[in-house]
Amino acid sequence: MISSPNANTLKMMGRRDFGRKLVGGFALGKIFSDSLNRSVYEQMAAWDKKGLDQEAPDGAYWDFVTNQYMLEPGLTMMNNGTAGAMPRVVFNTLAEYFQIQAANPFKCYSTFDAYREEARVRAAQFIGALPEEVTLLRNTTEGLNIVAYGLDMQPGDEVLMSNLEHPSGIFPWKLREKRYGIKIKEVAINTPPRSKDEILTAFRDSITTRTKVILISHAVYKTGLIAPLKDICSLAKDKHVLVCSDGAHCIGMLNLDMHDLGVDFYANSGYKWLGAPTGTGIFYVRKEAQKDLWPNIVEAEWENPAAGALKYSHVGRIADPLPIALGEAIHFQTNIGKPRIERRIKTLAAYLKEEASKIPNVQVLTPMDPELSGGLTVLGLQGMRNDQFANYMLEKYNLVIARTFNERNAIRVCTHIFISYKQIDILLEGLKAVYGKK
Ligand SMILES: Cc1ncc(COP(=O)(O)O)c(C=O)c1O
Repeated sequence: MISSPNANTLKMMGRRDFGRKLVGGFALGKIFSDSLNRSVYEQMAAWDKKGLDQEAPDGAYWDFVTNQYMLEPGLTMMNNGTAGAMPRVVFNTLAEYFQIQAANPFKCYSTFDAYREEARVRAAQFIGALPEEVTLLRNTTEGLNIVAYGLDMQPGDEVLMSNLEHPSGIFPWKLREKRYGIKIKEVAINTPPRSKDEILTAFRDSITTRTKVILISHAVYKTGLIAPLKDICSLAKDKHVLVCSDGAHCIGMLNLDMHDLGVDFYANSGYKWLGAPTGTGIFYVRKEAQKDLWPNIVEAEWENPAAGALKYSHVGRIADPLPIALGEAIHFQTNIGKPRIERRIKTLAAYLKEEASKIPNVQVLTPMDPELSGGLTVLGLQGMRNDQFANYMLEKYNLVIARTFNERNAIRVCTHIFISYKQIDILLEGLKAVYGKK
């Protein structure tokens, strides 16, 4: 509940002091563990004591995790794009804080800043960043726009982007190109790529003296490729080029570490794989890159050096329960364990790819290599339109997949931790029924 023992202390602190105090070792974890949610975390801890062998495919551990999501019985949710599934603990927190706001608006402005700050610090820890490098936004699109409009560039300066970028990454740069004369240069990546080196060579060969920034999706929405982001950042750094990554799908899917990746800007959405409410995103700006990136919407304190990445989210009062619930989603995944989540997701995807590759007329467009792939598996189909197949699976099995990459008539299947092998078998059964004939 909100009556944390720290609440009075927090109220008396300014937002920034609180952030500093947290960095200095202030205990995290009190705010979100209310009475409704505590028993879930206690059960998770009990599972951990039993050892990892209890994680066996579709075993009791993953049944327990699946039961923490609020999905309708019978619904198989194999799309985490647009909006993914939310665990009950997150919904509890969201509802609780909106209720507090309705019942006592004074609490909303006297205490919520501190809770939002706790969520932000949790977010930084979760992605391997410093608290001053992270701020909470509405989504990936917002973060990508801040980068596209916030960097100083002259007419003729270049941004390199892959041919597989999402419109939310492309169009802010298109606008800037139209308005200010910068140049967009596309770097072609094959689907699937023949190797990691092929991707790196394509970027290396495209950099010129006018290249200022590279835009690259960490997880490509229409092919499922996980880009070799760390290597791209390393070659860009050698040429003094900044890297902005669209990580829309990666938070909650991959075991992220911003400092290890060496990326300058990273934007993502909390409501795809992380289980946070819609309208939440985490935006990372490497400390040393903050001098290069102007904010677009500002409040009084944007020039205060202590603001750090907070200067990119000064937009007046927002719906505070949203970032607070994002903090709960992070707490939930932290309790399961980031490496365990990535492992489970990739193991499910590997099974799906292996089995799908045996079906005639189905082409696996996502790399088999677990370094170059994650929880998005894209399958090219022949013989029935991708939207018709998606409708067929919905109507026949109540199973949601996305259609994507229309040039390749593809579908996209997401294998999050709450998906079972049994559910993947149902998808394979549908594919075999429709495409399995030579
Ligand atoms: C790769 C990628 N980038 C950006 C976005 C936009 O996400 P949002 O609407 O959360 O900003 C999406 C949406 O699914 C996406 O797949």
